[in-house]
Amino acid sequence: MLRIRVIHGPNLNMLGVREPEVYGSLSLNEIDNRIRAHAADIGVQVEISQFNAEGEMIEAIQAARESADALVINPGAYTHYSIAVRDAVAAVGIPTVEVHLSNILSREEFRRESVIAPVCAGQISGFGAFSYILGLDAAKHLTEEKG
Ligand code: DQA
Repeated sequence: MLRIRVIHGPNLNMLGVREPEVYGSLSLNEIDNRIRAHAADIGVQVEISQFNAEGEMIEAIQAARESADALVINPGAYTHYSIAVRDAVAAVGIPTVEVHLSNILSREEFRRESVIAPVCAGQISGFGAFSYILGLDAAKHLTEEKG
């Protein structure tokens, strides 16, 4: 069975409480339940984690090289400046989909650039929790395309 690693970045543990007008009212736990339900529907395995610390997130990305076939990642604010997260994604070389709850292109200037997106297969941004569902479908598609 296809194994998809889902990684949430910093402050996403605050979803539901954090700026609900931007990020919606669902908690991270509720989003994770939707991800798991969709994974079951499309017949893939998921492992989901959230990291506030950049180094821990990088370790999880590196570990995905052995334990996953594709990566779905919301790097949070690291999206906009973490060359270290970008390098980790590039190093593992497994198909990666970048996702965002909000449409980062419609927000502040500093959010409009992703340093991660150029090393990903693509980016899904602006659909709230549904961005992750689209991300799973995209990751599955990429892996099938590859195989
Ligand atoms: C985010 C967008 C980022 O700019 C922000 O720092 C986040 C969440 C999103 O999912 O919309 O933490 O990645």
